[in-house]
Amino acid sequence: MSNTPPAKKVGLIVYFIGFTAALAGLLFGLDIGVISGAQIYIQRDLNVSDQMIEWIVSALLWGAVAGALASGVLCNKLGRRRTIMGSGLLFACGSIFCAVAPDAQMLIVARFALGLAVGMASFTAPLYLAEIAPQSVRGGMISMYQLMITIGILVAFLSDTLFAGVAEKQIPLPEWGAEAGHHDALYFGSFVLSLATGDGTWRLMLGMVAVPALIMFAGVFFLPESPRWLLLNGLRQQAESVFRKLHLDDAEIAAEVRAIEDSVKIPQKGWSLFFENAAFRRAVFLGIGLQICQQLTGINVIMYYAPRIFGMAGFESTSEQLWGTVIVGLTNVLATFIAIAFVDRLGRKPIMYAGFVVMGLALLAVGGLFHSGVEGNPTLGYAAAFALLLFIVGFAMSAGPIIWVLCSEIYPLAGRDFGITCSTGTNWIANAIVGMTFLTLVQGLGPGNTFLLYGAMNVLFIIFFLFFVPETKGVSLEQIEKNLMSGKRLREIGR
Ligand code: BGC
Repeated sequence: MSNTPPAKKVGLIVYFIGFTAALAGLLFGLDIGVISGAQIYIQRDLNVSDQMIEWIVSALLWGAVAGALASGVLCNKLGRRRTIMGSGLLFACGSIFCAVAPDAQMLIVARFALGLAVGMASFTAPLYLAEIAPQSVRGGMISMYQLMITIGILVAFLSDTLFAGVAEKQIPLPEWGAEAGHHDALYFGSFVLSLATGDGTWRLMLGMVAVPALIMFAGVFFLPESPRWLLLNGLRQQAESVFRKLHLDDAEIAAEVRAIEDSVKIPQKGWSLFFENAAFRRAVFLGIGLQICQQLTGINVIMYYAPRIFGMAGFESTSEQLWGTVIVGLTNVLATFIAIAFVDRLGRKPIMYAGFVVMGLALLAVGGLFHSGVEGNPTLGYAAAFALLLFIVGFAMSAGPIIWVLCSEIYPLAGRDFGITCSTGTNWIANAIVGMTFLTLVQGLGPGNTFLLYGAMNVLFIIFFLFFVPETKGVSLEQIEKNLMSGKRLREIGR
């Protein structure tokens, strides 16, 4: 018989909290995914160059850099709950602003504002979840957040595809729409229909993100503040009442409060630690390096430009390109489960090696196939599409979730906020650079060489992992910290 105590029943409220906060992940994913299908229509409707499209894609990412960097301060000053609420409101307003932007310049401004919300959510929601989730479901809740990002991307791809389906059929506008006066509800109805039936389709694609954003905004009103933040600000009674809401008994509450009070005694002194302590500096550079690797795998080239890539591979109709993109999104969701299942069993590094090998080979194959002339040859086109999907499997089972896991494990407590701010900021900067340069690279080098370049980088990252990245499976964060600060090599801080 097992001696394990029966798992404590977790109240419904915990799932409600988890779901509402994980909606931030869904919104993050929606905003990442929605632009890939929308850009075809934006380019046609606003008649802009590829370079302008790169700016429209990446404005959100620069906004996310600023949002993530500002979040450390916002979370401390306003609390986690109000920061998530603020991001929900910004998500909703930003999406509507995007939908009504009159020209490309305003669209760039709107995407930047939306990016602030994405950056704030990407920093605050996982932090809030980690702080509020009871021990027994903590890992699951953070994984749920990761999974929600991929689901958000998939839903965005699907919604783009459905809107495009309506648009491509070119449903004729009803006569009454044109005849009715400007202030008439009928006129408004026909205006909305006209958006869904022409090049203005992108406005609906981008605007629909306001709906889940408003749901999250409303839901956050009912969320409690993070008890850790309350204790950090001397609000002990409120913290205890949050724990009571989560159905903890008195003894458990006392233990949680003691543990949190002990941990918040350690002052966060990131900057001074960074300048004074070489070991900490190395950890910060490792986090930055890990996030650069994640982005330079080229994942977001596919996330943002998949329909175009399918187009380059010879899939000519918009519907083929968009359905191909939906399959990419679905593969991304499903393969994330591989990481969730194996990360604590096989360890981080074996999965990362497997992932980089798959990603490297897959992209080299895509590059090779483009060189052999996919466009005129459907068989090669399908082979390239298959290799792209293989690349997505490689990413989602490894670098997607595991880089985030590693980045939450390698910093000593006194510099954790600082370290995570640096690595999350780097993630968005590298993300923006990838988003901003893909079309230019394709124009300059051709698609074949561009994919060969990304493929080669994936192979190179194996060397980085071999020499610099520790295996952290089953090692306590305290032990990792001890090893790091005692001057062990980065690769060995997990032993
Ligand atoms: C990355 C994002 C990427 C997403 C794809 C995340 O881990 O940070 O940049 O778009 O995975 O699923």
